[in-house]
Amino acid sequence: MKVSLDYSIQLPRLRAAYRVIVQPGSLISLSDYLAAADLKGRAFVITDKNVDKYHGKKIAELLSSNDGHLIRVPSGESSKSWNQAGEIIEKLTAHNAERHDTIIAFGGGVIGDLGGFVASIYNRGLPLVHVPTTLLAMVDSSIGGKTGINHGGKNKSGTFYQPRLVISDPSLLKTLDQRTYTEGLGEVTKYAMLNESLLSELQNQADKLRCFSPSHIDVLSELIAKCVQQKIAVVENDPYEQQVAGRELLNYGHTLAHALEASTNYKELLHGEAVAIGMNYAAGLAYKLGIVDEKLVTLQRGLLEKLNLPTYFEGDVDLNRIMTEMAKDKKGRFRFILPQAVEQMIVKEVDRQEVEISLSNFLTTR
Ligand SMILES: NC(=O)c1ccc[n+]([C@@H]2O[C@H](COP(=O)([O-])OP(=O)(O)OC[C@H]3O[C@@H](n4cnc5c(N)ncnc54)[C@H](O)[C@@H]3O)[C@@H](O)[C@H]2O)c1
Ligand SMILES: [Zn+2]
Repeated sequence: MKVSLDYSIQLPRLRAAYRVIVQPGSLISLSDYLAAADLKGRAFVITDKNVDKYHGKKIAELLSSNDGHLIRVPSGESSKSWNQAGEIIEKLTAHNAERHDTIIAFGGGVIGDLGGFVASIYNRGLPLVHVPTTLLAMVDSSIGGKTGINHGGKNKSGTFYQPRLVISDPSLLKTLDQRTYTEGLGEVTKYAMLNESLLSELQNQADKLRCFSPSHIDVLSELIAKCVQQKIAVVENDPYEQQVAGRELLNYGHTLAHALEASTNYKELLHGEAVAIGMNYAAGLAYKLGIVDEKLVTLQRGLLEKLNLPTYFEGDVDLNRIMTEMAKDKKGRFRFILPQAVEQMIVKEVDRQEVEISLSNFLTTR
């Protein structure tokens, strides 16, 4: 199958460089990629029960050719905990995992964040390889080196720890349920708003991309590769999220998204769905502030709808709680990434009153 991306990320400030492959079927060659990256120790594969159920055979092959061990955790966000990290560390200890052995995080963003976190602290760091298995993990969480668990709050405890290799095999997405696939398209749309050529590709190919289809896997693969390149460009420039308008721009739509997720106790919305709603709100706010043309708001909303993503929140939620959540990490300020045009985002602090009025309207629009 065609290679959509074979790129070496260079992060000289972190003294890190690693290869990212996006290619249907690439998983078959994982052992060769490991050897090429000089990862010749044993493989400790961390995965979750769902992923193991669907892809256990491939994992077993991987283990047998790399003298490996399987570490399986329950599926879902609750596995991003100290308890689970501790259990994994105990298993690594029981098997005498050493510094030349490799941790392979084989799963969605939960496994990537948890496996990455453990890899970064066990024995002061083991080599880490990501094999993302959700669309969200392929375009987002496997790139950039953020790891974490939800101790002290969502993603509150974590590290920056770059992997040594990322192998994205889009054929793994075949077993993903439709809702989880669609939420990944929420993050994809975010990248598209940051990149004009990606946006036109997503608009033109939306019919082929709305659902996973083996016959359109090359189109999907190209799209994933472009999102990855978009994220890489930002991360290479600002690896620690220190610059104004650097890595922070990837948080477009996320101010409201995070607040909505927290206010509904992470039970009603998947992250990518919340991001879609958050982008629709942010674009509307930018329009109200006279920053952007109404055309962009309509274009973005139309695209989200075409991809079957939500654009408004339909449940019940307390406005005050959302306001509190939105200001929480920002020292009481309301800080948004707002579009001026496609590819042109700015970071802006908006008055409390302005936010309150627009949000109140937004939450009653269906
Ligand atoms: N580190 C980062 O930069 C970063 C960025 C974005 C999100 N995240 C984190 O990612 C997590 C969300 O990731 P996610 O959406 O991938 O969730 P997830 O890992 O929980 O996966 C969603 C569900 O799909 C299942 N699954 C995974 N791959 C499958 C496959 N191929 N076939 C069938 N089922 C499969 C999982 O078992 C799970 O039930 C959150 O914890 C979030 O904080 C991290
Ligand atoms: Zn996100």
